[in-house]
Amino acid sequence: EAAFVYRDGGLQAEQVPLARIAEAVGTPCYVYAGGAMQATYRALASALGAVGLPTTICYAVKANPHVAVIRGFAALGAGADVVSEGELRRALAAGVPPERIVFAGVGKTEAEMAFALETGILQFNAESIDELKVLDAVAGRLGRTAPVALRVNPDVDARTHAKIATGKAGNKFGIDIDQMPATLALLRDLKNLRLDGLAVHIGSQLVHAEPYEAAFARLAELAREVLAGGWRLRHLDLGGGMGIPYGPARDGRSAALPLDAYVAAVKRTVGSLGLPLVFEPGRYLVGNAGLLLARVLYVKQGRSKRFVILDAAMNDLIRPTLYDAWHEIVPVAEPAPGAALEPVDVVGPICESGDIFAHDRLLPPVAPGDLIAILSTGAYGATMSSTYNSRLPAPEVMVRGGDSAVIKARPDHAAMIAQDRLPAWLEESGR
Ligand code: LLP
Repeated sequence: EAAFVYRDGGLQAEQVPLARIAEAVGTPCYVYAGGAMQATYRALASALGAVGLPTTICYAVKANPHVAVIRGFAALGAGADVVSEGELRRALAAGVPPERIVFAGVGKTEAEMAFALETGILQFNAESIDELKVLDAVAGRLGRTAPVALRVNPDVDARTHAKIATGKAGNKFGIDIDQMPATLALLRDLKNLRLDGLAVHIGSQLVHAEPYEAAFARLAELAREVLAGGWRLRHLDLGGGMGIPYGPARDGRSAALPLDAYVAAVKRTVGSLGLPLVFEPGRYLVGNAGLLLARVLYVKQGRSKRFVILDAAMNDLIRPTLYDAWHEIVPVAEPAPGAALEPVDVVGPICESGDIFAHDRLLPPVAPGDLIAILSTGAYGATMSSTYNSRLPAPEVMVRGGDSAVIKARPDHAAMIAQDRLPAWLEESGR
């Protein structure tokens, strides 16, 4: 099932016309192709099956934490990768079994550790020696044993955007590989912890297999040393980060991670260890199955540029502003074949020059009232949104085949304002 295709002159989400969705819920709004998400999960599971080892796909909830999205994967047997109590609670609410949940992050609080221990999750991916000590103490207080995987910083350049690379020695993530002997020595004394695994995650939106191969090779080498030291490992967690196409290949850059090369790298490096594997893909499962639907408010011809002003803004989708991310933008009405393209800046209504979705983008002519889709926004879209400029959160719609459902409604202004409380000294007089 293709997520988004032109049919009968208009762009559809699976079999639902986007124009109909815009009519029903208004714009801006996020639209997710739920059938396509599940198809991608199945395809990934089958590709990873070629490694020949037992595999758990723990969907990285941060990419899109909507309970309906998580549930779609849980229904197919997925686990979850969570980084906070909120994400853990969402995964549980979506029906993910606790024994398929991994908890990552450099800053877990004692309360989060306690909640996850009581829940009975698969493992904590520990990122520092101090964290191990705190986890040991929390587990001791609760009379439990905490299952732990050590997240290793392999010092590998993931060749992705600096803000989303996590596997270099200078990043805050993971335990430096040269601190492993000291960490293992400490683990022998921390009686409330059980070492179950090793983990790596070197970054996000990776489009080359080589950095993965380098990181997995280091992990495999370390695993052999740990096993030789008499430890027993139950699994290896290879993280996420698989890159998706955000449009055609440009500037000599590959459009997406070649999955077969990735799978081959997994097999070559950790395959012979025979340990069950955990993966933590987020973007790969949801990114291309979501779009942000917006309407053109104005088209303004400036002295040197033409601006297409949308009713969606950087508060709805921050990726272009934050990472200079490139998202494909298409009109919902199918452009006539051979329509002349013109370069435009696609911008939002927010009072900042950074509120821009695309610079000098070639688009077919658009006019006020036209619907526009910003593609590949199923991952790190709605979840990174804010209400800046007191704009209402965009609603979210999920389709599957010909069905569609509003899975998050647009709140009204009264509800948003009601979240603000006045302190007593301002309440009465209003002065
Ligand atoms: N596992 C760990 C430990 C992670 O830190 C992440 C993402 C993932 C898995 C999932 O990565 P994915 O498969 O989705 O690439 N906001 C940024 C992306 C930040 C990713 C943070 N960590 C963006 O919009 O590009």
